[in-house]
Amino acid sequence: MRKGKFYITTPIYYPSDKLHIGHAYCTVATDAMARYKRLCGYDVMFLTGTDEHGQKIEDKAREAGVTPQQFVDRIVTGPRGVLDLWKLMNISNDRFIRTTDAYHVKSIQRIFRRMYDNGDIYKGKYVGKYCKPCESFWTESQLVDGKCPECGRDVVDAEEEAYFFRLSKYADRVQDLLENTDFLQPRSRVHEMVNNFIKPGLEDLCVSRTSFTWGIPVDFDPGHVVYVWIDALSNYITALGFDNDAYDDYDKYWPADVHFVGKEIVRFHSIIWPAMLMSMGLPLPKKVYGHGWLLLDGGKMSKSVGNVVDPYLLAERYGVDALRFFLLRSFPFGSDGNFSNEALIGTINVDLANDLGNLVSRTTAMVGKYFGGHLPAGSDKWAQPTEADRDLVAMASGLRDRYEAEMEAFQFQNALEEVFKVIQRANKYIDENAPWALAKDMDQNGPRLAHVLYNLLEATRICGTLLTPFMPESMDKLFAQIGADNDARTWDSAAVWGGLSDTAAPVKGENLFPRIDMEKELAELAKLQAPAAPAIELEPQTPEQVDFDTFCKSDFRAVKVKDCQPVKKSEKLLCFTLDDGTGTDRQILSGIAKWYKPQDLVGKTLVAIVNLPPRKMMGLASNGMLISAVHKEKGEEKLNLLMVSDDIPAGAKLC
Ligand code: ME8
Ligand code: MG
Repeated sequence: MRKGKFYITTPIYYPSDKLHIGHAYCTVATDAMARYKRLCGYDVMFLTGTDEHGQKIEDKAREAGVTPQQFVDRIVTGPRGVLDLWKLMNISNDRFIRTTDAYHVKSIQRIFRRMYDNGDIYKGKYVGKYCKPCESFWTESQLVDGKCPECGRDVVDAEEEAYFFRLSKYADRVQDLLENTDFLQPRSRVHEMVNNFIKPGLEDLCVSRTSFTWGIPVDFDPGHVVYVWIDALSNYITALGFDNDAYDDYDKYWPADVHFVGKEIVRFHSIIWPAMLMSMGLPLPKKVYGHGWLLLDGGKMSKSVGNVVDPYLLAERYGVDALRFFLLRSFPFGSDGNFSNEALIGTINVDLANDLGNLVSRTTAMVGKYFGGHLPAGSDKWAQPTEADRDLVAMASGLRDRYEAEMEAFQFQNALEEVFKVIQRANKYIDENAPWALAKDMDQNGPRLAHVLYNLLEATRICGTLLTPFMPESMDKLFAQIGADNDARTWDSAAVWGGLSDTAAPVKGENLFPRIDMEKELAELAKLQAPAAPAIELEPQTPEQVDFDTFCKSDFRAVKVKDCQPVKKSEKLLCFTLDDGTGTDRQILSGIAKWYKPQDLVGKTLVAIVNLPPRKMMGLASNGMLISAVHKEKGEEKLNLLMVSDDIPAGAKLC
């Protein structure tokens, strides 16, 4: 039975650091949603991936002494990287996109050109603030107390050439979308977007950069790379095959049914992304849901703050399902939630060990003890149901619909609350019926006892089916223990009492969720999570090898310095006019002002690589790069330009 398609996405993660449990929050929620929809009978496409471009990654790679590609590869595919984490968390994504995938890169160039061709992208001047020591552009809003957010020093006014997207043109349509439809949820986020961003006036968005190179080049203007959010947001359609031949799923799955995103990136998803789609004349996603943050000690858990919790540690100690369950059971999805070890262990002990685990182990043990492991025929019927029978049956039979209503509203916590009300009701039913008392006279009470146990298994079956999207592996075990086969685990059968065979043969198995000694465990965790033992480290890397043909493409030439000038407003840059033997002067900018006086270099013969794509720095074009030797002396960086004999003529090729 197919109910149509359901396309759901997570944000694509920055592989600038290894991921923490805060990142896992959204992906686990998306996974539970995807599994729930599959259970309902939808044809689901669940997409996640990584967002690998941008200045931050370029900088981090430089610090680590590797190429940006090596850097992201390590964090995405390396040990305990993104892919490993999703495997650990049992994430059932149907596709994984990396924005460095060749098909995505091509698509982005086409998407950029579409918006350029229709007049929504135009060339202009990016006016902002410039930090000289960092050589970085910032917008007014990025500044921290008016200073460079990176180093805290003063910034100056500056401008550079850039492409802009006519976001302003779409302000009214986006406002209408937000205010008059259910596009953005929870509803509270709508007012924030409209009041803080749209009403004050939507400005056109700067969508290209020339101050760094780790991005997708604008193919018709190669000094520019595409702004990382244009690149990242488009993943939701490029991963389906939009503007590329890698996949053919766009017509089938687009528009997305829902984008799950953290609240700090709602702005990009509910304003910029719809405007981009409007510009291209494409359908809009049906919904964007902005979830809250996982906090630690009251602050957002984030690597830059250093208050991260390692999911590997927790999953190894308590099992992945307990962790998945905790994340969605403990906090309303739309609000922030405080992570703590106490809360985690408390939830495991109360809900999983006590309520669910005990229900299963007591019931299966009693079938073993009183009936030798399988219920007698007819255990599903009872002529005169008691008040308690009727109550349990009614609650469990109606559970699926109550659960569905909550899941459709992305209220995971409430959906789980409904399930646990039935589990608690079932535990109370054990006490009400006192099976151990009935068992004292099996001749008289045997059939009644069998029926009581049948009812318990049946309530457990319905709860287990609905818990499967949250705890898939443990529910497989649960179903094996209660002796139910896959026919008894379907969406349809979850709404019908009596799905379990009257002669079910449960098997008491291992304890699904062992109880944890809270005090002892908290002390252990405190030791293991001490900041002295960081769980997340970038291992040293071996340099990447370049194949010979690639190396041979690099064009190194001897060049003679005709002129050298300091660059205005820059403390680092010198501007060289060079004779490269072609007869036309070549201009190259080099960040070596700290080590050389311009006049000392005139007349020298240097080495330059001359076939790099042109770059702009401080508004000046640079066509190539001068080669120098860099080393550290007493912790201080030293640089020596490579100078060769003046006998070598300008333009001589080095090989
Ligand atoms: O934002 N609690 O990537 P990202 C809950 N590349 N969610 C958290 C969290 C926490 N403590 N910490 C992070 C990006 N997240 C972009 C997305 S989409 C086209 C591009 C969530 O790796 C965060 O809210 O910084 C975001 O939704 C996701 O993790 C990825 O964050
Ligand atoms: Mg972020």
